[in-house]
Amino acid sequence: MTVAHDQRHQVQQATDIVRLIGEQVSLRPKGKEFVGLCPFHDDKNPSMYVSPAKQIFKCFACGAGGSAFDFVMRYHRMEFREALAYLAERAGIPLERGPRGTGASDQEPTDRQRIATANSQAAAFFRTAYHHPDQGRIAREYTHQRGIAPEMVQAFQIGYAPDRWDALALTAASKGWDLRSLQMAGLISPRDKNQPSSGNTQKSFYDRFRHRLIFPIFDAIGRPIAFGGRKLRSEDEPKYLNSPETPLFNKSATLYGLHLAKKPIIDARTAVIVEGYTDVIACHQAGLTNVVATLGTALTAQHVRELRRYAEQVILVFDADAAGQKAADRAVELFLTGDLDVSIAVLPGGVDPADLLARPDGLSLWQQALASAQDALSYQFDRVRQQMQAATTVTGRQRLVEGYLGQLTQLGLAQIGPIRRALVVQRLSSLLDLGEPEVSRILQRLGPQPVRPAQPAQPAPAPAARTGPAGQNVADGEPRHRLKAIELAERQLIGSLVRCNELFHHVLPDGRTLDEALSPAEMVTPAGARLYQRVYERLGMGEGLTLVDLLGDLAQEQEPGVLSDLATQADADVDQAAGDDPQRIEALLVTAAEAILSHHQEQAYHQTRRALREPGADQAQLMRRLIEHRRENPSPIRIARLRD
Ligand code: UTP
Ligand code: MN
Repeated sequence: MTVAHDQRHQVQQATDIVRLIGEQVSLRPKGKEFVGLCPFHDDKNPSMYVSPAKQIFKCFACGAGGSAFDFVMRYHRMEFREALAYLAERAGIPLERGPRGTGASDQEPTDRQRIATANSQAAAFFRTAYHHPDQGRIAREYTHQRGIAPEMVQAFQIGYAPDRWDALALTAASKGWDLRSLQMAGLISPRDKNQPSSGNTQKSFYDRFRHRLIFPIFDAIGRPIAFGGRKLRSEDEPKYLNSPETPLFNKSATLYGLHLAKKPIIDARTAVIVEGYTDVIACHQAGLTNVVATLGTALTAQHVRELRRYAEQVILVFDADAAGQKAADRAVELFLTGDLDVSIAVLPGGVDPADLLARPDGLSLWQQALASAQDALSYQFDRVRQQMQAATTVTGRQRLVEGYLGQLTQLGLAQIGPIRRALVVQRLSSLLDLGEPEVSRILQRLGPQPVRPAQPAQPAPAPAARTGPAGQNVADGEPRHRLKAIELAERQLIGSLVRCNELFHHVLPDGRTLDEALSPAEMVTPAGARLYQRVYERLGMGEGLTLVDLLGDLAQEQEPGVLSDLATQADADVDQAAGDDPQRIEALLVTAAEAILSHHQEQAYHQTRRALREPGADQAQLMRRLIEHRRENPSPIRIARLRD
């Protein structure tokens, strides 16, 4: 048993999967389990079950399933080692670094890991500089003057980039940090000839961030993936300088403050989106914690996809200016095409949230503004209505309407589902003072028909023909119904063994024990064979095996997803067929084993019959084999076939 296995076991024991998943997905209790929207496919109704007793999750719609490790690996796109470190840290378990050859710790770090390390080092450096008595004084005065509380400086890990060319580069060199990694993270750049040199250093790097207040930008689990630096001198440009995009940092998919706002967003089922770093911080400081910001971009479809994991509703907070208008247009588009209700709140007096909340009556004004948030579509309607009222001529109004309808069509009106479409038609009808059928006709004239799901000309190939429910490949040339039956039998066999380990040596009706009768080579589907192989080895060595154990093993394999889906499906199949009753599980195992064995016999029989038809076949010998086969398997169907 490797060190890694013990650690894995310990971490597994210390992790509660319901809490873990509950931090990312809104879960509600249902019987002995919890259910929630599956984050691994576009889930409309809660299809994911989380079992506290088994410490597994399972989606009955897309088949994704596994242990806490699988969840973290998939959800946060981590490798096993990263997931182990992440869960260990959550559980407060210090990880020993395995000796060479036992784990991944001796492998070359990936670019992502190198950039992550560089960002963590830099974040620590900026924090230290901020709190340095002399160096950080201006930065501390600035946050104080902006009314940012020390608790917020702490929570958002605000830092300071010192006022010199190479403060980070020099510190990095003296501490032995990897300069190449810092460069990949965009934190330092090679110094070109024209830059002022700082005397005796041979290291030719200069810092990206100089004399700026630093807002580290975190991913959803709180790792710094980039930085935003605000200028502290009016003559500096730009006002905010950000890290460049890296393999870790995709600006248009990132939401500032999400790591702190995630839980409150899940609880409120609502996310509030503001425009700036300082707005997020002011909101959190005021106790409004379900607030995040985009990074100076409009809300994108990627943001929406991320937010849909946590929220049912998004409220965009704008100042009522032209930029706000553009953002509202984007929001309408996302409303029309996305699966999330987007509404828009306008703050009074053209101030931003940070300014508003600094006022004594700020919080109540904020709450009023949010309470009167309008869904994106009606927000736009109102704008058009106002413009219509201002228009003095009939043609002017007509042009407005046409322009607006054209815009809506461009925004994706043609693609929206029937329910939203009906809502749009209804709103337009009242806006234009026209009957709904008339509006529908206008819309049809203006744009393409609503797109229906494309009907394939040929009957669709049965989706399960080649791919089982858990995505495993199955052998060619098998009738589909028989394959599905065999797939199920394999899963029931494996599931029963994982439930009741002692069934491994169970005596089958033909007198052989299960492990004698069925080796991994006897499995029909490749995925089933690989999974059974793992179970077979573990039980063969006399080791106890639980589902979570098995999943832990699988998580360390090359392509963990498919097999952990299959393992959790196998467990669910046993549940369905036999519940928790050991006797029924035993019966299930026997039936499943016999189904697989008889499948092979049938295969052999058909092979012999095919061989018989080959020219030059040894007829006599093959006939003997067929008769023998009939004697062993006196199935009336096969005997009838033999006579035809
Ligand atoms: P704002 O100009 O509204 O700044 O830009 P702010 O958030 O109110 O900042 P303070 O309160 O004046 O310090 C909104 C957001 O747009 C991005 C930043 O993410 C900023 O928070 N931005 C702005 C940039 O990326 N670069 C810039 O030069 C300006
Ligand atoms: Mn501001």
